[in-house]
Amino acid sequence: MTEEVQAAVLPEHIKREIDHWIAKYPADFKQSAVIPALHIVQEQMGGYLTPELMAAVADYLEMPRVAVLEVASFYSMYDLKPVGRHKICVCTNVSCALKNSGKVIEHLEKRLNIKLGETTADGKFTIKSVECLGACVGAPMFQIGKEYYEHLTPEKIDTILDNLK
Ligand code: FES
Repeated sequence: MTEEVQAAVLPEHIKREIDHWIAKYPADFKQSAVIPALHIVQEQMGGYLTPELMAAVADYLEMPRVAVLEVASFYSMYDLKPVGRHKICVCTNVSCALKNSGKVIEHLEKRLNIKLGETTADGKFTIKSVECLGACVGAPMFQIGKEYYEHLTPEKIDTILDNLK
């Protein structure tokens, strides 16, 4: 992120939500709220983190902008470019890989006619590979929005996608 990037203006209600998290830490550790702050901003301000939004979070938490970029680019739950209305986060970590998450991705790619990391032309779906989502017992699994879908099969995947508006 270059220094010229202007921070976006965070709306008051977003600041209040971030303040809720800041209050959980000692006064001089505001930056500890960076993870939830990025979640709040991503979820409520367009679905992905622009350089301007990351700069705004950094400024609000009084931390270096590059440190926010490091966090946002490290964790797979953050997106730095636009995503589809339904972001399909396929777990490809060990348990899911052993239970054939590769086949899940293959099926999604074929059905949606896009590759992993891409978004359909109508902006409806994005397929993304993510790290363990803590539902290993249900492997292979993916997350769409706040929902977890487990023990996936091609038939089950088709039904899930058919039911999404
Ligand atoms: S390895 Fe996939 S949920 Fe844990």
